[in-house]
Amino acid sequence: MRTRVIPQQVIARKRDGHTLSAQELEGLLEDYLDGHVGDDQMAAFLMAVYFKGLDDEELDVLVEVMLHSGEVLDRGGAGAPRVDKHSTGGVGDKVSLVLAPLAAELGLVVPMMSGRGLGHTGGTLDKLESIPGFETRISLARFDRILGDVGCAMIGQTEEIAPLDRKLYALRDVTGTVPSLPLITASIMSKKLAESLDGLVLDVKVGEGAFLSRIEDARALARAMVGVGAARGLVVTAVLTAMDRPLGKTIGNALEVREAVDCLAGGGPGDLREVVTELAAEMSLAGGLVPDLGEGRGRAAEVLAGGGALARFERLVAAQGGTLALSGDGYGLPAAPVTRVVAANRTGVVARIDPHALGYGVIPMGGGRTRQDQEIDPRVGFELRVRVGDRVSRGDPLAVVHGASKDDLFIGARVIHEAVTVAGGSETAPLRLVLERVTA
Ligand code: URA
Repeated sequence: MRTRVIPQQVIARKRDGHTLSAQELEGLLEDYLDGHVGDDQMAAFLMAVYFKGLDDEELDVLVEVMLHSGEVLDRGGAGAPRVDKHSTGGVGDKVSLVLAPLAAELGLVVPMMSGRGLGHTGGTLDKLESIPGFETRISLARFDRILGDVGCAMIGQTEEIAPLDRKLYALRDVTGTVPSLPLITASIMSKKLAESLDGLVLDVKVGEGAFLSRIEDARALARAMVGVGAARGLVVTAVLTAMDRPLGKTIGNALEVREAVDCLAGGGPGDLREVVTELAAEMSLAGGLVPDLGEGRGRAAEVLAGGGALARFERLVAAQGGTLALSGDGYGLPAAPVTRVVAANRTGVVARIDPHALGYGVIPMGGGRTRQDQEIDPRVGFELRVRVGDRVSRGDPLAVVHGASKDDLFIGARVIHEAVTVAGGSETAPLRLVLERVTA
């Protein structure tokens, strides 16, 4: 029988900056998984890691224990390359909804396993669940069948896949312990390694709306994740993309699905299309479908414009039990009962749109969680009417708030005024959208 650790001793050693032995760390994590270490103790440990970090050996132990806390998917026989992408998390980041069907249409198999909202960022699962009937909790057998039929499937972590990450992810979400390089690295890479992929593309967000806002930290995160993947034989590319403003114009679950469908239909905001096209090109390259990124971008743009990705998304939604009314207004997605236009209270230039404020801003309206077990309201959120650099006059609309109640509209209007800065003329140039790529 394994000797159990004394949790408070391990927590204190990490708190005091010591390096934990593999035995100590494995023991703590396994005792947490089987219930002998409580959420309170694990939250304290996560906070100690947040402040003191993990070295490479400790990170390796965390990845291995997380990965082997559950099953590793069956790769299946030969066939199309299995390639996925994962984002480190952003605000308005609906890329996965467009990218999975697009990449499948390009010829890849995309076994996408996504997460729920985390901290101030939204989660792909919560967005998908705003589609009436869409099931994200399906058996692995059904997941495999859908992958075979449609070429892509989108689920949450099942009980079987990296259950330790699932537990820690939910705990980090509500304990302020998300923005930690080793915790993000292990969380993402354990899930992705469990998918038995041929290639992986990581969208590492940079800027105030990301978990690690400075470019040096984002680069270090990218290198750590690429390193963990490469050490296990996975082709991994990380792309650093801007999150100093929200991606696209919408923040909030159903609103973001609507925007993703616009993009799949060949429209939608240009920044979303640019990021999707770049990541699709990287996925095509990682899967060996194209000789270079230029060709990958060209093919992705062609497929988006031609409507093939939208048709694939319709098949995916139907296969996972959902219904969308693609010809109808709002695509049959749930809509908020009340809305309010928030206007600029001065004339000037939009100098800044703070993604962090907007991401946290949807939570009190019910669009995100403050406790692990909370239901969220998919209808609420923000629809921006301006971009950084736009000139506005006093009274021009800055955004529309979508709320479940009049109180939400009041809260939402305050958030918009806090998040959108209209300045008297000086402009801050936003970051370039696609910043860097990191490979092994
Ligand atoms: N996405 C994840 O899956 N995990 C994290 O820790 C952050 C983003």
